[in-house]
Amino acid sequence: MEFPVKTGAPASQRTECAILPVFDDGQLHGATKEFDTAAHGTIQQLVRRGDVTGRLGTTTLIHRTQGTAAARWLLVGCGKHSDFTAKRLAAALAAALSALRSTGTKDAISYLTYATSPLFSSGEAARHSVETARASLYRFDELKSRTDPPPRLGRLALAVPRGSSTTALRNGIKLGTAIANGADLARDLGNRPPNVCTPTHLAATARDIAKRYANMQVKVLGEGDMRRLGMGALLCVTQGADEPARLIVLEYRGAARRRAPIALCGKGVTFDTGGISLKPPSKMDEMKFDMCGAAGVLGAMAAVGELQPACNVVAIVPACENMPGGNATRPGDIVKSMSRQTIEIINTDAEGRLILCDAMTYARRFKPRCIIDVATLTGACVVALGHLYTGLFSNNEKLAEALLGAGERSLDLAWRMPLHDDYGETLRSNFADFANAGTRDGGASVAANFLSRFVDGLPWAHLDIAGVAWRSNSNKGATGRPVSLLVDFLLNSDGL
Ligand code: BES
Ligand code: MN
Ligand code: ZN
Repeated sequence: MEFPVKTGAPASQRTECAILPVFDDGQLHGATKEFDTAAHGTIQQLVRRGDVTGRLGTTTLIHRTQGTAAARWLLVGCGKHSDFTAKRLAAALAAALSALRSTGTKDAISYLTYATSPLFSSGEAARHSVETARASLYRFDELKSRTDPPPRLGRLALAVPRGSSTTALRNGIKLGTAIANGADLARDLGNRPPNVCTPTHLAATARDIAKRYANMQVKVLGEGDMRRLGMGALLCVTQGADEPARLIVLEYRGAARRRAPIALCGKGVTFDTGGISLKPPSKMDEMKFDMCGAAGVLGAMAAVGELQPACNVVAIVPACENMPGGNATRPGDIVKSMSRQTIEIINTDAEGRLILCDAMTYARRFKPRCIIDVATLTGACVVALGHLYTGLFSNNEKLAEALLGAGERSLDLAWRMPLHDDYGETLRSNFADFANAGTRDGGASVAANFLSRFVDGLPWAHLDIAGVAWRSNSNKGATGRPVSLLVDFLLNSDGL
């Protein structure tokens, strides 16, 4: 998909389709007004008759476009003019692209970016246009023997008024493209079946990223290395599986060596059966998405590789399967984590925290400024926040604010959830330092409490993406979240 910039007079621009915003105040604005003038008031007439309204997400395709050089107009409802946020722009563009899918349109110009808004910059408009278009055109068909014809739309130009600067727009396109590439990688990894997307496959992907981009270095640890390091928590999760586990370390150096890196830890359970605490069969196939934390982190690293920002980042991905079997960990087993704390396994399905705690302890070798873990950690987080917000837990106000801000800017939202020592009360164990599972009530905070025991004073944030990393039902598939949030955060992390 290409995203050129258009600066001419709207009505004389040649295109197969002009995507034109209509607001619900009965008046025409920006480029839509210019089209209407060139077409002697036909759009205004449609609005006056009530055939076209500004209701957000509605679309009307017009073929009689006399007076303008566009073969089609697609009028898109954008809601209230004074409420036209970046979020609404993205929603309107998504509706437009979905309407265009059933047409033969191969190239289009979006005039949603044409008028300046006090609510977002042209750079943001461009970034979100690209991210939205790429997400809407994304398809996962690498394993279908008969694929649908690819989407015809191959070029979406973004329009700005003649004479206005296009630098911000071009930078936004560049940022949006890098994020979309990272999100596509995360979506592909998530969507690949668990017999393809194994820990070894995640490691190969990290190696590809390191090869493709400058200033990247990769190291992959095997189970022998993990044993030598004392990673008993990680190892107890993988021990029921035949598929070998991996600990993937991908470093990016874009700043001076002495600048402490940001550590990103991504949960990479390539299939979560629950282990001996076996999950019920319904929707168990979706537990192939239990590596979406890893996918998000690797996707963000790919975007970082493309953008080459001036920061240091180290991604640490513990990857394994959680399987039942003759050698699987039993409820009641006690294991020793790399931090030397002992853990009683109460529920083998609470495995994410076990692989993450050793990854977080390992992260300390890089003397990071902060640790951010990303994980499809708890069903309880899905109950609490649904599919809208990522759950954010943090022991550090500045870090939490930075991540929430990145979420807002990237339309990849996070909501602050509580951390409290008392959430750990039910993790008490009579036999080990503590247990891996407690009550289900407040389960997202109980899990965060477990992880907090491995932070050792460092600024830390935990992103529970269980509700946002994939969609179920007929739209089943990985979303690519939270790549956009992470990249935005890393690009703005100087002050931390
Ligand atoms: N991967 C799951 C969490 C999950 C479940 C994400 C459903 C999305 C949808 C995680 O490993 C898990 O099984 N968590 C348990 C923890 C419990 C046993 C303390 C859960 O949430 O039920
Ligand atoms: Mn589990
Ligand atoms: Zn899991």
